Parts: sequence; C-alpha cells; structure tokens
Amino acid sequence: MKPTKGIVLAGGSGSRLYPLSTICSKQLQPIYDKPLIYYPLATLMLGGIRDILLITTPHDMPLFQKLLGDGSQWGISLKYAIQTAPRGLAEAFIIGEEFINNNQVCLILGDNVFYGKLDFLRNALEKNIGGTIFGYQVTDPERYGVVEFGENGEVLSIEEKPKLPKSQYAIPGLYVFSSDVVNIAKNVQPSPRGELEITDIHNAYLQQNTLQVEIMGRGIAWLDTGTPESLLEAGTFIHAIEKRQGMKIACLEEIAFLMKYINEEELMRHIISLPNSSYRQYCEKIMTLQ
Ligand code: DAU
Repeated sequence: MKPTKGIVLAGGSGSRLYPLSTICSKQLQPIYDKPLIYYPLATLMLGGIRDILLITTPHDMPLFQKLLGDGSQWGISLKYAIQTAPRGLAEAFIIGEEFINNNQVCLILGDNVFYGKLDFLRNALEKNIGGTIFGYQVTDPERYGVVEFGENGEVLSIEEKPKLPKSQYAIPGLYVFSSDVVNIAKNVQPSPRGELEITDIHNAYLQQNTLQVEIMGRGIAWLDTGTPESLLEAGTFIHAIEKRQGMKIACLEEIAFLMKYINEEELMRHIISLPNSSYRQYCEKIMTLQ
C-alpha cells in the first residue's frame, strides 16, 4: 500500500446532541459498548493506516488523550492537534500540513461509522491518484454532500447539502487525497456558512480531472450518529450484530492483533492493564477467535 497518513476529525460543537455533548464531545458518546471514536479509528486501522492524527477542540483533547493515549497499545502512532473553532472540514488539511508531509492522506470524520468489508477503502488507498471519494445511496441526500453522475457514470457535479439533490448518492465522511490537498485547502474560501467546505476540495480535484468517485455498495453499512435518535439506532445496530455473532465490532485490540500491529505478548501485556469488564474478557479470548 502507498504510505498513507490518517486524520480523524473529531472537533465541532456537537450542538445537535445537547445536553449530551455539554461535558463530553459527540465522538466520545457511546455506540453500545465503546466510544464512537473507536469506530472510525477501527476503519483506518483495518485500511492498513497506522500513523494517525486526531484533530479536536482544546476542551476535548485531554479527554481523547486519556482514552486513546499514543496508540502504542494498538501498535499505531496517535498524535493530536487542535482546531480552535469549527471552521470547516477542509481546515483539517491545513492543521495537518506538517503531519501529512508529502504523503497521501485519508481523512475520516470522527462521527462516521462504517461496517462491512473494507476492500473498497484498501483499493482506494492503493489506486488513488488525486482524490477518491465515495457515493452511498441514501433516502435523505439533502443532509450531505451529493454527487451527480452522468449517463456513463462520469461525475457531473458535487454539491454540499443541496435543497434539491441531483441524485440519491451522498458522500460519506471518508476521503483519500494526494498530498496536494494541503495547497488546495489553503486556496479554499469560506462558504456563506463560514466554513472551509470539503466539497470545494472535491470540486478542485474534479476540475483537475483527478477525482474518482467509487460507489460504496449496499453491503456496507454507513451509519449516521448526528442526532440522539441516530446515535441510539447505531448502538442498537452494533448491539444486534455483536450479540448474534459473539464478536465485537471495532475492538481495537482485536484489530491490532489481526493486522499484526501487535504480537501475542504485546496483546497480553496490554490486556493485563485493562479493568475487569466484559470488554477485557472479550480481549482475553481474541487469540482463540482467529
Ligand atoms: O457525514 C458526511 C458529511 O459530512 C458529508 O456528506 C458532507 O459533505 C460534509 O460536509 C459533512 O457534513 P456534516 O453536516 O455531517 O458536517 P458537520 O458539520 O456535522 O461535521 C462533521 C463532523 O466533523 C462532526 O462530527 C464535527 C466535525 N467537525 C466539523 C466541522 C465543521 C470538526 O471537527 N470541525 C469542523 O470545523
């Protein structure tokens, strides 16, 4: 795989979750048995990405650091950076400039949950030239970035939260870009809502003819977590699958071991540090689950 840096954007005000988000940020809320942030981290780790920058607010950074540390327990490197105000998703590339340092970068939004076979991501990381984004069919595209396709599957337009969406294809919060994304982001002007929009980045690659939009099939679940109801629904979904299979989704210890980021001895040493809980009991079984 091409060397790829990962960025998890986990700032924002989380105002739609008030009062839940007053003390604890949206990305730290539970999705059934783990904090939400575990799920996007799991996606990056399963994609083969081990060098990750987490961008968050000054208030929440110590909480994330307490929860996730430096990532060494999972055989990854986790660094932290601050976004002082929610100035838009594209600002992640400006904040992350030094970290990206001429590498390809994969940005995932800290509130996006993906479940299913992640080959689509691994392929994108391998094949990407300029930008690769995804299209996912939803019933409410007006809430997202929307991609319009022509008759031959070519991309005709990309719009942010259009009142009249030109297709049913929403763009999930998972993007792969070449290192020029930093310069592209620096040239993006704030939108009428005052944000550096990620869709302006997509459009810049589209104009350069280096934007690839891959359809993310219905075999992948892309779950929304923006409102109290969708948070609950995502938790119920994860619970149902975990209960049926007896396997956890987004258990970072399991993924680290499966991906060979840590060996048996490192896994055992980490498990000993975990409090007695059903999560620890599951981790103790990981080696026998493979
Ligand atoms: O979820 C996918 C959608 O995410 C895309 O389809 C849209 O094109 C994209 O603009 C974005 O739309 P949202 O309305 O979901 O963006 P929101 O402002 O809710 O931000 C998404 C997450 O990123 C949220 O957890 C907060 C965080 N965030 C947001 C902004 C604007 C930051 O960390 N910093 C920011 O400046």
